[in-house]
Amino acid sequence: MIRARIIGTGSYIPERVLTNFDLEKFLDTNDEWIVTRTGIRERRIAADGEFTSDLATKAARQALAMAGIGPESIDLIIVGTITGDFPWPATACLVQQQLGIKGGIAFDVSAACSGFVYALATATSFIEAGSVKRVLVIGAEVLSRVVDWEDRNSCILFGDGAGAVVLEAQSGENGVISTHLHADGSYWELLYQKGFGSRHPASSKGLDERMPFLKMQGNEVFKVAVRSLSDVALEALEANNLTPRDINLFIPHQANRRILEATAKRIGLDDEQVLINVDRFGNTSGASIPIALDEANRAGRIKAGDVVVLDAFGGGFTWGAALLRW
Ligand code: ACO
Repeated sequence: MIRARIIGTGSYIPERVLTNFDLEKFLDTNDEWIVTRTGIRERRIAADGEFTSDLATKAARQALAMAGIGPESIDLIIVGTITGDFPWPATACLVQQQLGIKGGIAFDVSAACSGFVYALATATSFIEAGSVKRVLVIGAEVLSRVVDWEDRNSCILFGDGAGAVVLEAQSGENGVISTHLHADGSYWELLYQKGFGSRHPASSKGLDERMPFLKMQGNEVFKVAVRSLSDVALEALEANNLTPRDINLFIPHQANRRILEATAKRIGLDDEQVLINVDRFGNTSGASIPIALDEANRAGRIKAGDVVVLDAFGGGFTWGAALLRW
């Protein structure tokens, strides 16, 4: 059987660090509150003149270098993002241009913090259908430009970054074994960006009402996130006749430490099975899983044959899991 196998990973994290103590200088908050409620100590912020496509391309180049292939052999680029350079065209097209590729397919997937897992599942379907051989799957976000820096309930959570993988069609037992995607649009208002789109087109009144910024009802998000993240991870295990003990590495979307710990507990995972780096990068939405995956891969935390579960939840609501045999 043809499987989509990850042959390279990469990531790019902007240089500028914004600590909780930096936030204290312009926001009614403090390090102790943020660390206790979220586990986040600092996040990265893209430089002026640095855009989502730049972060995405840097992560992609690293993944290509690890795979030992050039960009010209990529048939498809999918970017999971909700903070693209422009509402359109797709950031994937800008990445294609920056990589100097002509031809092939390029598009974005909009599934908020589930963007990378949705993109990975889509890429896997293309590969298993036999229509492409090599795919760049990227999660990239510059959330710092859509969070409301006057809203202490939400802005403390988010950061910028990008992660990427190169998938290759290979025969054998290793690769993406199964993907499990879900959505429930009845929750859309709990986490969204109000403007500017067809419902609220650009206007100065909309700017005064802070429409272009992220809105979130944190408490409600928390409850549904823990339930959905744990249910879909268990669904992936059950579909493959595996148990939580079989997971070598569990990489959840890095929302915040309390969500991750509650999810791991509900699934029945030990601390050593779970990758958490939210303390250093905050919530980078669609980028968090590929950044964490690259970090684990480069640190030698994943060996050939390991079972790795990627688990995501985000605005929409959308959620999903991917079970990989490395
Ligand atoms: N600093 C200090 N105090 C604050 C801050 C802050 N940054 N933010 C809120 N508070 C205050 C509130 O005003 C409130 O004060 P009050 O009691 O006087 O009204 C108090 O702290 C408690 O507020 P809650 O909202 O009840 O705090 P909670 O314990 O729920 O923590 C948090 C808030 C961290 C946002 C939590 O709800 C959460 O983690 N939710 C999940 C949200 C999330 O992860 N979203 C990411 C996108 S979705 C995803 O990625 C899965």
